Order: sequence, then structure tokens, then C-alpha cells
Amino acid sequence: MSRTEVLEQPDGSWWKEAVVYQIYPRSFNDSNSDGIGDIPGITEKVGYLDSLGIDVVWLCPVYDSPNHDNGYDIRDYRSIMSEFGTMADWDALLDALHARGIRLIMDLVVNHTSNEHEWFQRSRQRDGKYEDYYYWRDGSQDEPPNNWESIFGGPAWTYDEKRGQWYLHLFDENQPDLNWRNSDVREDIKEMVTWWLEKGIDGFRMDAINYISKVEGLPDGDRSERLVGHQHYAHGPRIHEYLQELYDDTLSNYDVMTVGEMGGTSIDQTAEYLVEGRSGLDMIFQFNHLGVDDGPNGPWSPDGWGEWDLSEFKQIVSHAQEELAAEFWDSIFLGNHDVPRIVSRFGDDEVYREESATLIATFLLTLRGTPYIYQGEEFGMTNVEFDALEELDDVMTIGKVEELFETGSIDSFEEARGLVNYWSRDHARTPMQWSDAANSGFTDGEPWFDVNDNYRFINAEVALSNGDSIWHHYRSLIDLRHEIDTLVYGEYELLLPDNEQLYAYTRTLDEEQLLVVLNWSDEPAIFTTEMDASDAEVLLSNYENSPSRQLEREFQPYEAVIYRL
Ligand code: NOJ
Repeated sequence: MSRTEVLEQPDGSWWKEAVVYQIYPRSFNDSNSDGIGDIPGITEKVGYLDSLGIDVVWLCPVYDSPNHDNGYDIRDYRSIMSEFGTMADWDALLDALHARGIRLIMDLVVNHTSNEHEWFQRSRQRDGKYEDYYYWRDGSQDEPPNNWESIFGGPAWTYDEKRGQWYLHLFDENQPDLNWRNSDVREDIKEMVTWWLEKGIDGFRMDAINYISKVEGLPDGDRSERLVGHQHYAHGPRIHEYLQELYDDTLSNYDVMTVGEMGGTSIDQTAEYLVEGRSGLDMIFQFNHLGVDDGPNGPWSPDGWGEWDLSEFKQIVSHAQEELAAEFWDSIFLGNHDVPRIVSRFGDDEVYREESATLIATFLLTLRGTPYIYQGEEFGMTNVEFDALEELDDVMTIGKVEELFETGSIDSFEEARGLVNYWSRDHARTPMQWSDAANSGFTDGEPWFDVNDNYRFINAEVALSNGDSIWHHYRSLIDLRHEIDTLVYGEYELLLPDNEQLYAYTRTLDEEQLLVVLNWSDEPAIFTTEMDASDAEVLLSNYENSPSRQLEREFQPYEAVIYRL
């Protein structure tokens, strides 16, 4: 179905048929040479996005912010960060996208604000209705009110001298948590949400949205938990009520899509949100599959990370395909601005970069659910190597390294180097590699963050000019997804669950059956099957000579083939 046909569909299923492209504005494209990506820079690249064939842009926060967490600390929800441009620039971007039939979803960050937001400033002064807009608690200056830990490291409480009380922040100390129990807070948020919807946006990605309801009394967390306190604020007692209220009073009046980000959420818990009347959310980012290479105590535990089994990965993905995507809907992703580059993490960014990046792309675009592509993935951008703490920008990585120092787990950066180079969110935040020009064509100025040195050969321009590139593979996959309903709506069935090299599955809709075979390894692998190969037609392969009418054979390292049977 063409983009325009889907846009005209009255049944609201456009977001099921859509492919989403995520933009991290700071690192996308700089139009005014200040070294920082900006909104006019994105508008300049709308033609590029159109040529890739994507349907929706998810724009990470562009609101006014002091940038302690690169925009996830919002100072004013209704104005644009000056480094990124103006509201007029934003209007122009929306128009340029809509003119090409591309929709725009915004990031909604309402678990917390910046500590520079007017609400927090007034709350510190106990000013009228703002007094209880955040979680304030009494207590001695030496002892936080409970033992909750911040997701970014250290305690989840900071003492505010001005008010003489502690305030809660699940993230950085500059990101105080909003008190959703207060109906004035909810009303203000709803007004703001409606204000954006009225501007004509097409939906929201909702940041950390499963954290907005905290257990009454904020009791101590169980010390044995990976993240102390998590049990008392993830899926809190009023979460469904708050989300459904937000939906009923705002979102339900518009033809928009919503995807809620929910860290630390099981597949069963995720399903709870997707039941009609339980949240109004269309789909959720849950991270079970991204836990496959965690250490025993989560990603930032000092050892044991980085290893993963394909069979375990298949089992987690298949569980989500069966319980979420089949029953409701799911979001399909491996990368975003918070995780390492996908080809470095799940592929081979050296010998088989092209093969493994196209294999991963085949995986992402052939599952049931809405696929999300993170900027730069479409031509195989990779991780970088960080040699010192000073080279990092990410508040979370820095917080985690500091915590390791403070707890005595490390005495030097060198000891955390492996961990940092595996997990840092900075990998995903290096500037887009547009060309082999200075600073990868990202800026004419001094880039806010170093460009990955490999931009001279890994860049969009080179990828566009080579018909066999990763970029063109993405383009072909997106086309296939738009053409073949079975790729969107077909039932998923896993084959060979225990095979540690091959990930194979079928997608079936009515009379049509597709088979996807991925050799997710750097060694050849033999695929055997009882399926009838006589009509098997190769729809797309990342190797030149994948034969039709033959399924049983040796698959080359990272070979990825889609067959129509
Ligand atoms: C999740 C966002 O994706 C991440 O970048 C941010 O730091 C936290 N939520 C806090 O807003």
C-alpha cells in the first residue's frame, strides 16, 4: 500500500503498516555551523528520509532544556530549545514532512521535568498549587527519605537547601519526578498534550511512562533488587488509571499513534497495558530482548556482560511475537539513542559489517509489529572507542562510572573501560555520517561531539551511490513491507528454536507463506527443512547468488534470505 493510501485509511491502522525512523536532533544535521544538529538541519534532510521510504519520524526531545540529559530534562514544554531553532522552524519541519506523507511523533517526557522548569522553581518556594507538584519529603540532610537508587547511579533523592526538604528523581538530580497523584499536575500535562496535538502532530513516544505512579508512602526497596526501589514505582498502583485518563481526555480525540517506553517490564506486564481500556497505548517499547547480553546484575554489573546466545534471543523475541504482537501489537527495534550501535552489538562491525547489518535489517523489517530504525543504522554506523572519562558526554555513563569509583568497584577508568565501551549511550550519539567531507558533512563548525573516525568510508553518500549497500537493502525491505501484507499482519512461527546459528521463521497470511532464514553467525550454517521448496522464490537476499527453489543448503556467514513459498 502506498503511503498516501495508508494515510487515507479510516481504520486507524496506519501505524501498524508504518516504518518509523528515529531522529536524535543534536546529532542529525547542523544547518547553522554551531556544531549542534538543529531543526532546519532535519528539514534539509526530509528528501533523504523520503527516499529511504519511511513513514513516520520520531523526534527525540526538541523542547527548551538546560541539557543535563540532552533534552530529556525539559524546562518549557511549549518552546523549542534555542540551539535547535524556533517554533517557526518546527512548524516548517512538520509541513515539510506532511507534504511528503511522512508523519511526526514527538517525545513526551512527563515522568519528570528539568529542575529549571517553572513548576519546580515554584514548588521549591511552596508557591500555591505548585507546592506538591513533585515528591518532597522531610528528613535529616545526611539520610535520604528512602533507599531508592537513581537509574543513573547514586541515590534517587537530592536535598534542596531552599525548601529544606528532599526531592525524588529516578533519573539525574536535575530531573525531579512529577507527582502524578496531584490532579493539577495531570491537568497541566493534559493541557500541554492537547496543545501539541492541536499543532497537528501524529502521536507521541512516551518516555519512562511506566514510572509515573509510585507506591503510597514510598517504602524502602528490597536491597537485593537490581535497582533498589524499582518494585515500588514500576507499574505503580495508579498507572493504568493515569494513562487511561490521559488517553480519554486528550489522545482519543485524535488519529494518532502512541508508543510507551517501559524499562524493566516483563512481556506479561506489557500485555496488561495493551488490553482495551487499560492505557490507550498502541504499543510499547519493552526491553526483554535487549537484556540478552546483560551481566548477572544488569548491563552495568562489572563483569559477565556481552555474551549472548541466539537460542535465548529467539526464545525472548518469539515470546513477544506470540504474546504481544499476535494478540495486540508490538514495536520492533534493537537500536535507539540509549543503547550501543546494533551492528557492533548484534553483528560484526569489522569483517562482516555489510552482511551482518543487512541481516539485522532483515530481522527488524520482517517481524510482526512496527519497525523502528535509529538514525545511521540504515548505512551501518558503528560504535566508537572511548579512552578516557573526559571523552564521554552521557550523564548516565558518567554517573555509572562515578558510582563504580564510589563503591570501590574500580580504581581507574581503565578498569571500567570494557564496560563503558560496551554499554555507553554515547555510541549512538556521535554525529550522523553524511559524507566523507570534514566532520562527516554533519557540520561546518566544531561538532559538539566527536565524529566517529570511520566516517570516511561509512557514510550516507557512499551508501547511496552503491546499489548493493546496506542503505539500499533497507530501502528494499521497506518497499517489501509496504507491498506485502503478510510481512505486516502475517502470523509468526519460529523454526529450529535450539539452533545456535540459524534464526528461521515463517510469516503466514491466508494463502501466502513467507520464510525468513538468517544465518546469525560468522560461520557457514546448514539449513534443513521438510518444507516444499519447489515454488520457493527469493524475494530478497543480502548475498548475490541465493538460489530460488532450494531451501536446504549451506548459508553463508550472516546470509539473510526472504522466500515466498
Ligand atoms: C529514557 C530516554 O530514552 C533516555 O534517553 C532518558 O535519559 C531517560 N528516559 C530519562 O528521561
